Order: sequence, then C-alpha cells, then structure tokens
Amino acid sequence: MVKVLFVCLGNICRSPTAEGVFTRLVEESGLGGHISIDSAGTHAYHVGSPPDRRAMQAARRRGVELGSLTGRRVEAEDFENFDYILAMDEENFHNLTAMCPDDALKNRIQLFLDFAPHMGEREVPDPYYGGESGFERVLDLVEAASHGLLEEIRRHASK
Ligand code: 4NP
Repeated sequence: MVKVLFVCLGNICRSPTAEGVFTRLVEESGLGGHISIDSAGTHAYHVGSPPDRRAMQAARRRGVELGSLTGRRVEAEDFENFDYILAMDEENFHNLTAMCPDDALKNRIQLFLDFAPHMGEREVPDPYYGGESGFERVLDLVEAASHGLLEEIRRHASK
C-alpha cells in the first residue's frame, strides 16, 4: 500500500480538494486498493470542520464530492505512516519540515506541484480570502499534479 497525505494550512480548501481529486483519479485508474489517501492541515483552526463551502461547490462542478471530509491537524505519526507528504505551498513545506520528528523521514515531504512541472508554478495559492476564480485555479493545479503523482507512483511500483 502506498500512502499519500496532502497538506495545506487549514485543511478546508486546498488539501481536501487534492484528496478528493486524487481519490477519484486513483479509483478511475483501478488502483483504489493499492493507494491510501488522506489530508491534514499544519494549523488547528478548522479541526473537525467540513471543507469550505466554496471548495466543495467548485469541486462538485467537476464531479468531485468533498462533503464527507473533516479537517484534522498533522500529527507526529503522519511522518512515519505516509510515503508521500505533499505540501501545497512553501510555507506548509517549511512547517512540515520543522514538525518532522526524524531527519531520516524528511525526504517524504515534497511540494505537490513538483509533480506538475509543466504548470510553471511550485505553489497552490491559498484561495481562502479570494474569489471563486481562486478555487478554480486550485482545481486546475491539483488535477495536473494528481496525474503526475499517479505516474510517479506507477513508475515506482513497476521497478
Ligand atoms: P487551506 O486554506 O489552507 O487551503 O485550507 C485556508 C483555510 C483557512 C485559513 C487560511 C487558509 N484561515 O486563515 O483560517
């Protein structure tokens, strides 16, 4: 089983969107039994909350349902339990690196958009204080990086 954790700040906009989009892609590709997927936030503001309504609506327009997800914070055990710990932006990346209890596990932390180099950006911009277009941009970036991530996991598995 390959384990993937998506991480943003609040775990109500970007990382639940990534969880929902990547889960659908994995299921469509028939690998649902081989890849487990979760998301978490580096901060505790929204622990126990459902995703942001705007994130849910934008995802629903692309056929992805986020309604069953609940916010949680990153925990120390996550660094041992997950193979890919994918930060939405540089700040999340640095916070994760600082939280990681074991230097040997730090190579599990990566920027999610490094799986979509053709998009020309390394960060998924925080859409929380912006308008609807920000949520559409999150989906575009997350969809692109999800394809790259699945390819990487497949390549790794076939070695
Ligand atoms: P997320 O967005 O990190 O993509 O879930 C945010 C959610 C909440 C806040 C900031 C960003 N906040 O400041 O409460």
